[in-house]
Amino acid sequence: MEPVTERAASMDELLAALRAVAEPTRLRLLVLCARGELTVSELAQILGQSQPRVSRHLKLLCEAGLVDRFREGSWVFYRAGSGQAASALARHLVAACGESDATIALDLQRLAAIKRQRAELAGAYFRDNAADWHRIRSLYVDEREVEAALCEIIAAAAPRDLIDIGTGTGRMLEVLAPAVGHALGVDLSREMLAVARANLEHVGLENGIVRRGDMYQLPLPDGSFDAAVIHQVLHYADRPAVVLAEAARVLRPGGVLVLVDFTPHTLEFLREEHAHRRLGFADVEVAEWFTDAGLVPAPARHLPGDPLTVAIWTAYRPGAAAAVPPAAILEPVVLR
Ligand SMILES: C[S@@+](CC[C@H](N)C(=O)[O-])C[C@H]1O[C@@H](n2cnc3c(N)ncnc32)[C@H](O)[C@@H]1O
Repeated sequence: MEPVTERAASMDELLAALRAVAEPTRLRLLVLCARGELTVSELAQILGQSQPRVSRHLKLLCEAGLVDRFREGSWVFYRAGSGQAASALARHLVAACGESDATIALDLQRLAAIKRQRAELAGAYFRDNAADWHRIRSLYVDEREVEAALCEIIAAAAPRDLIDIGTGTGRMLEVLAPAVGHALGVDLSREMLAVARANLEHVGLENGIVRRGDMYQLPLPDGSFDAAVIHQVLHYADRPAVVLAEAARVLRPGGVLVLVDFTPHTLEFLREEHAHRRLGFADVEVAEWFTDAGLVPAPARHLPGDPLTVAIWTAYRPGAAAAVPPAAILEPVVLR
């Protein structure tokens, strides 16, 4: 992993940030936002203040670069600022703000209660669907084998950052984020994102975030990542070639795309009962899509199971890997 260097803040930026945080509610908000992604209503609940009042404070913190804001459907989340010169100051302030202060300690207790509540809700959704997923998992090779193969491919490519498209519960982020500087999981389902957030918080993954986005139209600039992973998602797609072209678009030159799915099979019940649109993919078909997307396919790897065989298809975007400016690593791509 490359060392992350930060642009030093100018004196004007530092003074603006110090002015923004020099108020008790805003300091409390900064400490809370450093511990996860929170909505205004959650922050208002913790602080015991009205939402409009909390929003006004958050706006000042955002303007000073101390806090980032992002929208997911009708919800707006806030988290510690990243990639801005002022965020180094924010980290120092949060570290200096010990948990022994009675107000901060109470805020953190309330935050822990909210996180527990969120995890319970997310867990209930996962339980409702888990039986289906377990049944499908029993049809193919042990997932640990697939994950080990994926880790090998990613380690060999040594990417600085990674996007997991159709992240679901965030499992791929858990497995692969430790090998990169920054990882982003994208999924269309709010429920799945809630499960992923709870999981990532539970395992304490600090360099992985999830955002809402459509795999057919990723809300990301071209060339944003060194690696993209699409794990057990493509069989839901009615336009798989578009999904792969989108993944290729967001890769930098030299970047790697790893697709994991089934080889062709005849288990019609997966279509009828589990919304699979495609009953697996042939190597030649995937290679053609990769080529059409401007990628260079590598030989496929098959992991035979009973009755389903998992395939790992890898392809590279031509061109030498460019040095990524540190800001690109620090600033998680903003999805609106
Ligand atoms: C079977 S889950 C796989 C999740 C994860 N990749 C894994 O292997 O653990 C498929 C995921 O694809 C997501 N998905 C389906 N259509 C999508 C779309 N158009 N854009 C983004 N995600 C989508 C679903 O919400 C679901 O979370």
